[in-house]
Amino acid sequence: MADFKVLGICGSLRKASLNMVALRACHELLPSGMKLEITSIADIPMYNQDVFDAGIPQAVKRFYDEVAAADGVLIATPEYNFSVPAVLKNAIDWVSKMPNQPFSNKPVAVFSASTGPLGGARVQYDVRRILVQLWGLVLPKPEVFIGGAAAKFADGKLTDETTRKFLTELLTGFGDWIARMQKK
Ligand code: FNR
Repeated sequence: MADFKVLGICGSLRKASLNMVALRACHELLPSGMKLEITSIADIPMYNQDVFDAGIPQAVKRFYDEVAAADGVLIATPEYNFSVPAVLKNAIDWVSKMPNQPFSNKPVAVFSASTGPLGGARVQYDVRRILVQLWGLVLPKPEVFIGGAAAKFADGKLTDETTRKFLTELLTGFGDWIARMQKK
């Protein structure tokens, strides 16, 4: 595999986020040739066209540059009320309005962790739907839903071996997907 730079985005801002723990665990599960850098969307203000028109905030510019520079984007997100957490949708909304919006033709993989039994199945389909509108190239399979997540993490670590195996398969599949999508 060529060297692929992947940007990790977490849809939860809380310090003990299980999704963030799972995203960090991906550092240990990457296929060779793939690098992961995890960004923060905590400092992105709420989208407001007036603020946009007055001058794009630095945090949004930084996020735009990070997405634009990545070979692929890996999103780990909880499900809030059957859908996408506002912070994640907000970050995507901001950059979607910028010239050459950076999700166009960008390979993206999504996984979710939830304390509920379905593991965030519904949020993933909403994330996919949003990214389709932006011409993002969302990895179709494998899908990883980390359900009943409270039992799969301990002391700030992803301890469930089956979940680690699923994430390893996701990352390997994502590497293949990026290579396939970059082929002219
Ligand atoms: C939730 N949670 C949740 N879980 C789920 O499976 N489906 C849902 O619709 C919701 N809805 C929901 C709404 C709100 C406002 C919160 C705060 C939480 C529970 C959620 O899966 C759980 O809190 C996760 O631990 C959140 O992810 P992080 O922060 O641990 O990454």
